[in-house]
Amino acid sequence: MAKILVTGGIGYIGSHTVVELQKVGFEVVVVDNLSNSNVEVLSGIEKITGIRPVFENIDCVDYVSMDRMFEKHSDIVAIIHFAASKAVGESVEKPLLYYRNNLVSLVNLLELMPIHKVQNLVFSSSCTVYGQPDVLPVTEDAPIKPALSPYGNTKQIGEEIIRDTIHSNASTKSIILRYFNPIGAHASAEIGELPNGVPNNLLPFVTQTAIGLRKELQVFGDDYNTPDGSCIRDYIHVVDLAKAHVIAVQRMLDNRTKSSVETFNLGTGRGLSVLEIIRTFEQVNGVKIPYKLVARREGDIEKVWAEPSFANNELGWKATETVEETLRSAWAWEQNYAQRSKID
Ligand code: NAD
Ligand code: WQD
Repeated sequence: MAKILVTGGIGYIGSHTVVELQKVGFEVVVVDNLSNSNVEVLSGIEKITGIRPVFENIDCVDYVSMDRMFEKHSDIVAIIHFAASKAVGESVEKPLLYYRNNLVSLVNLLELMPIHKVQNLVFSSSCTVYGQPDVLPVTEDAPIKPALSPYGNTKQIGEEIIRDTIHSNASTKSIILRYFNPIGAHASAEIGELPNGVPNNLLPFVTQTAIGLRKELQVFGDDYNTPDGSCIRDYIHVVDLAKAHVIAVQRMLDNRTKSSVETFNLGTGRGLSVLEIIRTFEQVNGVKIPYKLVARREGDIEKVWAEPSFANNELGWKATETVEETLRSAWAWEQNYAQRSKID
């Protein structure tokens, strides 16, 4: 079966996607520099699928090593490009690290693709490109708002780099996937999210508080213009998200894309508030989350959720996991496998 390059394939979304690719018979080469992941994840993947993916410990910023990797794996037919730095706060402190890592990696791939006759690229983008949308649910043609962080800007610029490059090169195709808020873990609890240090994202903070590693969760803001005053997001099970990548790759390989660059929202279409997430997590898992309401976090969007019907209709993909099941999977992962050594 066809060979797919997955950059960042040891990370959170990448590892779940490798599993789904292997399940339908794709051969996978993972490139990851382990900057935000642990090589043990390969064993988790192997436990689930019975196949240990080929792993190349390479930095995507390193053009020469990437060139050699493509020479070695000359039968790669598509790339799913997850590799990027993703901590919003860190990107404000170290913008050049983010521009170099996220953009030079992408430019290298786009330069190397025609040289190695790889035509298909799936790119990890984010709902962050919409900022606070004027209309909800947000569709793919909503205006792109000024980025609120260097990280967010790397996704906007990354999309533009892809569009400009592909419009100049008729043989290259790309599917840009704008993720909403991925949460949860594989049902086996063999792979999941492994945040480094104090989690920035809601769900890892919730699970680490539930297990007693954190004293209490801070709910950032209770005075937003939402029914309970806390922010609203579209939380999507990471396995649902992973499955969309397999469909996107297959669509490109089957030449079913309708244009050389296609852009899809990947969300559930349902918005949930921070307080609703806490309440549902407590109910389905039978644990208490100590929390306190604190001031708003700078740069937070009040509310955003996806209009997923373009992805539903065009890709034939739909998020199917319930939020209850998703929150159960997050808790099972925390209890079984979350890595204590990485926690501050
Ligand atoms: P992650 O940090 O868990 O995974 C990223 C992986 O890429 C890590 O294993 C890291 O070691 C690797 N990596 C980073 N820079 C690299 C480089 N230069 N060369 C090789 N490997 C490198 O993050 P994730 O949550 O799985 O996110 C995957 C992608 O999805 C990223 O592009 C991210 O920006 C995007 N995204 C994530 C979210 C989210 O909430 N998790 C939302 C929207 C978009
Ligand atoms: C969700 C909600 C917080 C932590 C970020 C990036 C975005 C995307 C996903 C990649 C918000 C609240 C959180 C906590 C809280 N990543 N919260 N207490 O902010 O939607 O998006 O990750 O592209 O670009 O900006 O996700 O998980 O950080 O927050 O109250 O300790 O939970 O205020 O309302 P966010 P998040």
